[in-house]
Amino acid sequence: MEKKPVMLRIDEVQRHNESYATLFFKHELQFIPGQFVMLWLPEIDEKPYTVSSHSKERFGVTVEAKGRFSTQAVALSPGDLVGVRGPFGNGFSFDAHANVCFVAGGCGIAPLAPMIESVPCGKTIIQGARSGDHLLFKERFAASDVLYTTDDGSFGQKGFVTEVLADAMAKNMFDMVYTCGPEVMMKKVFDLCEANSVRCQISLERYMRCGFGVCGACVCGKERVCVDGPVFESQRIRTLDDFNKKALLKSGKEVTLTDYFSWRSA
Ligand SMILES: Cc1cc2nc3c(=O)[nH]c(=O)nc-3n(C[C@H](O)[C@H](O)[C@H](O)COP(=O)(O)OP(=O)(O)OC[C@H]3O[C@@H](n4cnc5c(N)ncnc54)[C@H](O)[C@@H]3O)c2cc1C
Ligand code: FES
Repeated sequence: MEKKPVMLRIDEVQRHNESYATLFFKHELQFIPGQFVMLWLPEIDEKPYTVSSHSKERFGVTVEAKGRFSTQAVALSPGDLVGVRGPFGNGFSFDAHANVCFVAGGCGIAPLAPMIESVPCGKTIIQGARSGDHLLFKERFAASDVLYTTDDGSFGQKGFVTEVLADAMAKNMFDMVYTCGPEVMMKKVFDLCEANSVRCQISLERYMRCGFGVCGACVCGKERVCVDGPVFESQRIRTLDDFNKKALLKSGKEVTLTDYFSWRSA
């Protein structure tokens, strides 16, 4: 698949709760964990989604219903047609580490899940969400391998993934920490990694239009998140001036992250 959309039929829809669903497509996708695809719903819009599930013959994307596009996407059924472009972006890198840690907040488990399933080394998984019902993919990992946190204490430890990471770092020397979730959470993860001299990879989100580096919609500092990212490693995060600070709206206007993530396009 490439820069033009290919129309694919939905093979299966897995509904996780009232706001999340995973759409599966029977298609052989050449892919690196952390890469994303552009989904196109004709006459509605086209939006970026990370590949959350991958096997030789099919792949899945997990959609959180937020606004016009995603609400329509989670309501789709097997047999419905969706335009798909990609995969785009760099993806996570892995080089023979012995001991790694994954830190996911909310839907941030989506890009990490295929990575967790593919790395052949010691791993600690820390996954948080607002409630037990919002913890995705519990069935994909052995319960004993995951340290869960929830904001309301309904599952796992009540509190934040960063508190659990601080404890885990006191007991383990990680070679790499991989993280995805709200940017304020990833900033705390990055700061903990810097304080403990541990390398880190984060997966960033910015407004995307083309997905392959030509429109400039997704810039963060000097980087285009769609091609230079969405995954950034410690060395580049240190120079990302707008990390956890600013983002561009669809109009190109620069706003604070709070305004960016509360903005709705329709
Ligand atoms: C690389 C990447 C991977 C992503 N992976 C996932 C995923 O796996 N699952 C998931 O639920 N969401 C993912 N998102 C976010 C997803 O693209 C937005 O939630 C979606 O576009 C919302 O569209 P909407 O019309 O429903 O909501 P809107 O009302 O249009 O917007 C809701 C919020 O979504 C974000 N958003 C809207 N349009 C875009 C756009 N064109 N590009 C980027 N962000 C946008 C903004 O933060 C906005 O505040 C990803 C975003 C990026 C950049
Ligand atoms: S989305 Fe167009 S340059 Fe990144």
